[in-house]
Amino acid sequence: MVSSVHEGGAVDKMAGGSTTRSPRDLAFRILDQCLEERGKTDSSRGSIMDISDADVTTQIREDLAIPGRSPVDIDTLLDAARVVFKHGVRMDHPRFFGFIPSPASDASWLGEILNSAYNTHAGSWMQSSGPSAVEMQLLKWMASDIVGFPPPTAGGCFVSGGSMANLTALTVARDQKLPRFEDRPLAVIYLSQQTHSSVAKGLKVLGFHENQIRRVACDSSFRLDVGELQNAIAEDRKSNKIPFLVVGSCGTTNTGAIDPLTKLADLANKEGLWLHVDGAYGASALLSRSRRSLFEGLERCDSLSWDAHKWLFQTYGCGMVLVRDRKTLTSSFSVSAEYVQDAMETEETLPNFWNYGIELTRPARAMKLWFSLQLEGLDKIERDIEHGIRLAEVAEQALGDLPDWEVSSPAQLGILCFRYRPTQESEPADLDAVNQRISRTAIEENLAAPLTTRLKGALVLRICSIHPSLEEDEMRRVIRGLDRIARSQSLPASRNPSQV
Ligand SMILES: Cc1ncc(COP(=O)(O)O)c(C=O)c1O
Repeated sequence: MVSSVHEGGAVDKMAGGSTTRSPRDLAFRILDQCLEERGKTDSSRGSIMDISDADVTTQIREDLAIPGRSPVDIDTLLDAARVVFKHGVRMDHPRFFGFIPSPASDASWLGEILNSAYNTHAGSWMQSSGPSAVEMQLLKWMASDIVGFPPPTAGGCFVSGGSMANLTALTVARDQKLPRFEDRPLAVIYLSQQTHSSVAKGLKVLGFHENQIRRVACDSSFRLDVGELQNAIAEDRKSNKIPFLVVGSCGTTNTGAIDPLTKLADLANKEGLWLHVDGAYGASALLSRSRRSLFEGLERCDSLSWDAHKWLFQTYGCGMVLVRDRKTLTSSFSVSAEYVQDAMETEETLPNFWNYGIELTRPARAMKLWFSLQLEGLDKIERDIEHGIRLAEVAEQALGDLPDWEVSSPAQLGILCFRYRPTQESEPADLDAVNQRISRTAIEENLAAPLTTRLKGALVLRICSIHPSLEEDEMRRVIRGLDRIARSQSLPASRNPSQV
C-alpha cells in the first residue's frame, strides 16, 4: 500500500529548531538510499518486472504525484521514491534481456551526480569552456581514433540518445544533399526492413512523407541487401525521383546485424548519396579490439549515431552523433542572435555546441562518460563489452545442446533470437502463442525476462545479453529454465522435462 506523502510529519524538524536539513545531510541521506538500492543482491532485488496495477497507479497519481503547500520530510519523500521507482521494468537487472537493457555502471550515475551538481550550461564555449574542451576532445577521439573518420575534420555532438542522434544526422544529410527546397518533395530515402523505427520518425519530423521512404529487403542474415538497394535506386531514378540518403545499421535492435558497410559505402559513393549509419546500439563494440574488424567500412560513412546509454554503460540521456566533417553540423544548426553575441565563438576550434545540434541550453552530457572512462579505464569497458557478446554465444551453444529449439538469428553483438519448435508429432499448432507464453512464464517466475519480437513473420524470443555481472553459468541456467517452461506447457507428460 502507498501512503500519502502529505499524511503527518510534513515538515522535518531538525534538532536545534531548524525546519530543513542541510544539503549535506540531504545528500548523505539520498546517497544512502541509492547505495542500498544499487547494492541489492539477486534475492533482495525483487521482480525483474513489476508493472503497477490499476490500484497502485491510482494511488501513485493521487497520493504521491502532486505537491502540497507544506514541505515533505526527506524520509517520507524517499519512501515515496522507493514506491514510485519500484514500479516498472528493472532495465538494469542482469537477467532483463528485453529491448536494449541498461546496465549502467556505478561510475556513470556517480558521474551524473557530479555533473548535475556543477550544472554546466554546455551550449557555448564561454559558458562551459572546461566541459566543452572535454566534450570536443572525446568526440574527436571517438570519431577519428575509434571510428576512423579523418582527424582534421571529424567531430560530433552529444545528444540525448539514438533518436536525437538520428534526427540530427538526417537533418544534416537533407541540408547537404538537398540544398534546393523544391527538390525535397522528389527526394527518396533508403532504409532496410530492420532499420530502427526512430529513423522513420526522424524523417517524419523533417517533413518527409512515408511514400518517400523505401524499406529495402534484407538478406537471410537480416542485413540490408545491397543488390536490392541498387535496383531500388535505379527504379527511382527512372521515375525522376531524387535518391539522396541511405541509412545503414551496425547492430540492429532485432538481431544485432551489421549491414555490409563497405558495399554500402561503395554504392553510396557511386550514387552520390549521404550514408548515415545507426550504431546507437552496436557501435560500442568498436572498443573491442577482437571484434572491431566486423565494422570494416564504417569509417567511410558520413555520419554515425552511437549511444553511450546503451552499451557504454551510462545512465540515460547520453548519446552521440559523429560526423566525417563537423562543418556539416554547423552548416545545419548554426544560428546567431543579438542576445547571445557575447558568447560567440572566436576560433573554429572552440565550439559553441549549440551550433552543432538542435538544443541551445544543454547539459554537459559528455562529463559522465568522461568520468566513467577515466575512473574505470578502457580495458574494463572492453572486457565488459566482450563479455556481453560472449553471453549471447553461450546462450546459443546451450540451446544447441537441447532438442526442439530453433535459432532464428545467431548470436551477434550480444543479441540472440530463437524459438521453441518441437519437431515431434506433438508439435503445437500455434508456435507464436507457445513462445509468447514461454516469455510470460519466465517473467512471472522471475527466471529472466526474454521479451519477444518478430522475424520473418514468426514470433521469436530475443535475448540482449549485455549485463557485465551476469555469469556464463547463470545464462546456461536461464536457457535450461526456458526449456523446462517450454516442455511443461506444450508437451505431453510422457516427455521428460530437463532439470533446471
Ligand atoms: C539501433 C537503434 N537505433 C536507435 C535507437 C533509439 O535510441 P534512443 O532510445 O536512445 O532514442 C535504438 C533504441 O533502442 C536502437 O536500438
